[in-house]
Amino acid sequence: MNPTLLVAIPIISFFFLLIKRRKVISQKAALLPSPPRLPFIGNLHQLGSTPHRSLYKLSKQLGPLMLLHLGTVRALVVSCPKIAEEVIRNNDLLFATRPKSKLTDVLSCNKNDVAFAPYGETWRQMKKLAKTHLLSSQRVKSMSFDRAEEVSLLLEKVADAASRGNGVICLTEILNSYVTDVITRVVLGSWITKEKKTLLSELSHDSAALFYEFFFEDFFPNLKWLDVLWGSNRKLENYKKKWDALFEEIIKNHGHESKEVNRKNNTYFMGTLLDLQNDSNLGFVLTNDHIRGLTMNMINAGIDTTFATLDWCMAELVRNPEMLKKVKDELRKVAHGEDMISEELLGQLSYLKVFIKEVIRLHPPGPLLLPRESMQECQIQGYNIPKKTRLVLNAWAFGRDESYWEAPEQFKPERFFDCTVDYKGKDFYFIPFGVGRRICPGMDFSMAIIEIALANLMHRFDWSLPSGITIEDMNMDEGGEIISFRKQKLELVPIASKVN
Ligand code: HEM
Repeated sequence: MNPTLLVAIPIISFFFLLIKRRKVISQKAALLPSPPRLPFIGNLHQLGSTPHRSLYKLSKQLGPLMLLHLGTVRALVVSCPKIAEEVIRNNDLLFATRPKSKLTDVLSCNKNDVAFAPYGETWRQMKKLAKTHLLSSQRVKSMSFDRAEEVSLLLEKVADAASRGNGVICLTEILNSYVTDVITRVVLGSWITKEKKTLLSELSHDSAALFYEFFFEDFFPNLKWLDVLWGSNRKLENYKKKWDALFEEIIKNHGHESKEVNRKNNTYFMGTLLDLQNDSNLGFVLTNDHIRGLTMNMINAGIDTTFATLDWCMAELVRNPEMLKKVKDELRKVAHGEDMISEELLGQLSYLKVFIKEVIRLHPPGPLLLPRESMQECQIQGYNIPKKTRLVLNAWAFGRDESYWEAPEQFKPERFFDCTVDYKGKDFYFIPFGVGRRICPGMDFSMAIIEIALANLMHRFDWSLPSGITIEDMNMDEGGEIISFRKQKLELVPIASKVN
């Protein structure tokens, strides 16, 4: 949480000590284990800068099912896979909606999207469009050419950066621009300029940073005027303006750009959606707001999550030299002297695949998934859960639950060999992409981007830490709130490997 706010909150709460609080929860829900709370703000101050870790610690004292009071918001926090399974198996539909918030109203173009739309027809139609025209495995396969070109550029960038100065490169920045380039290319078209890509990467980070912003209106509706005073409204407005300007330009360009610069890739996602507006068989009216909402989702949900995973992968490889060697040995066997690893070869890279799985078990980019909200009152573990209670599943905690994982804190990719555990949403102790109706539709899309980049980066270069830096110096702390990045930028020395 914003540090200024951490100071301000106790002061505000002092004033509200004098105000009699309305009792908003039912008697039974109040019996749920709940950490002691401050007047007015409730448990907000206990979330800290890494809420998944704070909630995990609290669950060690209070048990796997807790009720938190975040201002006027009730949040049911689940910290063990068994209860998560019970909730989703019995009540997925009931918890299939997302809570409304000031930020998500902007990010969803007023709920005209997939990620933040309430459960219902619009959400269903948008998810179908996203899957059919961008994220299905068939569509993902059809974009292999775009990925191959972007991977070549990535390798060139690495070699070029390494040839300058002392050979140390900031790999984090290069990976970020690779993921931005590949996603914007297939979502917005290859005509998007370098400047626009930089802006889009900034917008994606801005959206993650805005989750770090505190909006009084969401937790204390009566204090929404403080959002004006605090400047939060202005930040949101500026963010929206940048997107609006970008969309206007893309919409204006659509149709012209494809003939000139977009010849290779005139089936980009946003272009397809704009064309679909004239399709009378669609069955519903696809508005510009739907297209904006969907496109913003693909950029905001796609770039940071995929980039964070790739960055964690590279950091874990360098931190575990014996695993790095195994990855390289496997690549050498399948490459047969070729310069580049093509996507057809990825199926043979079983060690690389389990390595990535282990990375997202320990470093899920969305550690608390996305919040859901109950549409009706229901019962969980014998407790009455009122309507409009937020559900928070601590996937980060599930991935290190000792009842399911042997030596959970150990980084051990081999644990995934000869086992069927997967992240597709059926094994509740491993749900980095979520579960149930609201599961992430971008799994195949992001994995394709990650695997091909990782395979080629490992195949083409030998990696080491800058001189004087040891593995012990690598800080594996997480930063960010909604997306869990590696806080420290990854600086490495790449040396071209002997491919044969
Ligand atoms: C490593 C990469 C990624 C991870 C770990 C990830 C994780 C997640 C998680 C945890 C959720 C919430 C699921 C829930 O509420 O149960 C989610 C939802 C979503 N993700 Fe991803 N995601 C990734 C990549 C992507 C990509 C590349 C895209 C699209 C380009 C994408 C699009 C979405 C959308 C649209 C939703 C909302 C689904 C809904 O509400 O129905 N994600 N993702």
